[in-house]
Amino acid sequence: MDLTHRPRRLRQDRVRDLVSETSLEPTDLIAPVFVDATTDERVPIESMPGHERVPVDDAVARVEEVLETGVEAVMLFGIPESKDPEGTRAWADDGVIQEALRQVTSETDAYVITDVCLCEYTDHGHCGPLEEELRGDALADGPACEPTMTVDNDATLAALEKIAVSHARAGADMVAPSGMMDGMVGAIRSALDEAGFEHVPIMSYAAKYESAFYGPFRDAADGAPSFGNRRHYQMDPANAREALREVRLDDEEGADVMMVKPALPYLDIVSAIRREFDHPVAAYNVSGEYAMLHAAAEKGWLDLEAVALESLLSIKRAGADLILTYFAEDVAPQL
Ligand code: PBG
Repeated sequence: MDLTHRPRRLRQDRVRDLVSETSLEPTDLIAPVFVDATTDERVPIESMPGHERVPVDDAVARVEEVLETGVEAVMLFGIPESKDPEGTRAWADDGVIQEALRQVTSETDAYVITDVCLCEYTDHGHCGPLEEELRGDALADGPACEPTMTVDNDATLAALEKIAVSHARAGADMVAPSGMMDGMVGAIRSALDEAGFEHVPIMSYAAKYESAFYGPFRDAADGAPSFGNRRHYQMDPANAREALREVRLDDEEGADVMMVKPALPYLDIVSAIRREFDHPVAAYNVSGEYAMLHAAAEKGWLDLEAVALESLLSIKRAGADLILTYFAEDVAPQL
């Protein structure tokens, strides 16, 4: 055979790494950490093997475990001691995240990012206070103009401002609003600036889809909506152009990093944002993506280590610079 082109030449062992187009580093990864004000002991999260909710006093130890693996950044999620319709514990100075932040940022070198949202703090589990919505939708079942409840966008913005500022005061290095409220990045940016936190970046969950892959997280953080769903604020999985519009708005409002969530089922979105914008792009490899690989591995159907690495590499190849993943600690030492 006289073949000019033999791509296999570059797949030989000693040259493969030289020509590899994508690499994964521990510093690309962010590890989620759950801090729980309702417990004195660590509580394993059943649907997310290897992950636990830790009490506030154990947050430093938990973050140190992450740092030992080579991962340098964590994302803190909080489970408050009590919930109410407004989610007031989310911005309390003695709230679960604020307490944990003060300890973690004074006692460790971790880069600490906080989730800025209300769903874990409201008793109805939605991402903001509710208001009645009048709908005259002729296609809906039932009488026209039946009142339904929805999240009050602008009242939520005021709450998000208070949360972000309280996190920054307690030492957060970066804030990550995840509620998909219109105008949330702009509101938080001005509130932070006014409070003297111009240097605190915002990682916006710019394109967060209404996804069934969040199931295990909602168990972990006790944040499932008690009625209805989140389709009035999170994005329709059918839409890709809309993601670019969301990112454009967040850019105009001052977002520093653009996040796509979930990751694997939405790699087309990651890659489109990478092409169209020059911001760092983050992807959230969510709880369901983690749980399904674990479940298959437990059955002996997949090699967990291999599929975890391949998944994260694929997310980077699609264009993500940063990956928020429950695999962070398992994968980092192998890199
Ligand atoms: C809500 C929030 C969600 C996740 C993190 N913060 C999703 C939701 O319940 O709508 C999901 C993360 C995961 O599944 O890993 N602020």
